[in-house]
Amino acid sequence: MTDAIIQTQKLTRHFDNGKVKAVRSISFEVNGGIHGFLGPNGAGKSTTIKMLVGAISRTAGDAKVFGYRAGSVAANAQLGYLPEHPHFYEGMTLRDYLIFMGRLGGMPRSEASKKAMELAEWLDLIDAFDRNISDFSAGMKQKAGFAQALIHEPNLVIFDEPTANLDAIGRAHILDNVKKLSGELGITVFISSHVLSEIDKVADAVTIINKGKIVLDDDIKTLKEIFSGNRYIIRAPRIDLLLDELKKRKLIGQIWNEEPGQIEITPSDEGLLRKEIPRIFTELDMWLDEFKRREISLEDVFMIAVSQEDDSDE
Ligand SMILES: Nc1ncnc2c1ncn2[C@@H]1O[C@H](COP(=O)(O)OP(=O)(O)O)[C@@H](O)[C@H]1O
Ligand SMILES: [Mg+2]
Repeated sequence: MTDAIIQTQKLTRHFDNGKVKAVRSISFEVNGGIHGFLGPNGAGKSTTIKMLVGAISRTAGDAKVFGYRAGSVAANAQLGYLPEHPHFYEGMTLRDYLIFMGRLGGMPRSEASKKAMELAEWLDLIDAFDRNISDFSAGMKQKAGFAQALIHEPNLVIFDEPTANLDAIGRAHILDNVKKLSGELGITVFISSHVLSEIDKVADAVTIINKGKIVLDDDIKTLKEIFSGNRYIIRAPRIDLLLDELKKRKLIGQIWNEEPGQIEITPSDEGLLRKEIPRIFTELDMWLDEFKRREISLEDVFMIAVSQEDDSDE
């Protein structure tokens, strides 16, 4: 018995009689906070999520939500789900829709009605409360989807690419609300995205999948530490001269990127590099444009992980 909020064990899903191996034996845990579920298009994110909410069956393996079998009534009572392509009933106002969804989630009408109003206020949709959702903008529809996932006061919400198809402002709104859900309400958020850079800012932990397999699974801080490798960016006019000098002094551990006017390196000795850089530039009688430690992004982490991965086809 475990107290993980989500736990999968060798979770697997094939399509077309095994021709498409969408999810290949993935095992991971979600233990609270904001947990990013990342990977490029076609990686298997939506397929995994659909198994977690019981929308499709598993080919093999196991998934549990709050210790209950994924897809069971007990598990689903505690989770809210915003699908990749949410379906709204034609001609329903936001108020009617939210109350309807609350009723489906087992709430008495009066309670659903109160909660619907609260959510509309919280999401700044109160002016649109009695308008047809069909007439909403993409951003408003996504908020309606958000509200629907929250109506029955779940302890976990699963959002499948909630920021896709939104403009920058719409995306920022959604991510703000995700932060509030976790920070103010203590709800665990499992959020998928193919845009690693936006999850960077909000997630506490991430599971990254590619071609149906997990490539990385850890908290963000640890991942960045593992992969950062103390990278420095140096910009100067004659970067070739500088590079020769750095090599001569054995200051280079690894060169990540070399282009006219700029290099990105991991020094062999960080302290020494920082000390020597001003001296080298004085000696070379050269102007230094920039010398800075490079912030590593989740995108970089992903690229490194995928390039290190062997391409076995099991
Ligand atoms: N119903 C289905 N029938 C056949 N193949 C599918 C089906 N659903 C998904 N796939 C395939 O499984 C893979 C993973 O898809 P999906 O889980 O939607 O990826 P993601 O959500 O990460 O973009 C893709 O190759 C996709 O074409
Ligand atoms: Mg998807």
